[in-house]
Amino acid sequence: MKQVILDAINQQITREMFSSNLYLSMSAFYAEKNLNGFAKWMELQAAEEMQHALKFFHYVLQRGGKPVIGAIEEPKAEWDLVLSVFEDAYHHETLVTGWINEIYALAKAENDYATENFLQWFIEEQVEEEATALEIVEKLKMIGENPQGLFFMDNLLGQRTAGAQAN
Ligand code: FEO
Repeated sequence: MKQVILDAINQQITREMFSSNLYLSMSAFYAEKNLNGFAKWMELQAAEEMQHALKFFHYVLQRGGKPVIGAIEEPKAEWDLVLSVFEDAYHHETLVTGWINEIYALAKAENDYATENFLQWFIEEQVEEEATALEIVEKLKMIGENPQGLFFMDNLLGQRTAGAQAN
């Protein structure tokens, strides 16, 4: 694998780990407010992001490269509203999509067909992740700070199981 591709994927490993920490921080925020369904959803999301990091990690190894784990910045820990957390989650996913697209463009420019192929899964995953987060943002906007609505959403999000996204 060319060094430029290796560097980009290694950077993405760290970014996925940051994503995992960010969602775990969001989970902690919700758990403290006794919104345990929201907290569970975010905890499962954190686990999924760790799986994404590992997918990149193993891909580097498969291609004969050495994964490098970089420094991970501290995630945000406080938000003003239940909605703001998911707005940040949605915004974060759009950033991730941009990073994946950048690596894809790089792989294309460098004629690295294997990496292009490998990234297809992430491209599809990002469409799903953005759509899921945005749908929850829209629902939370409808609900506002209405306690009954939040109670309903908390139940709904709490139904998420590993590998599936309840929304
Ligand atoms: Fe690993 Fe949510 O992107």
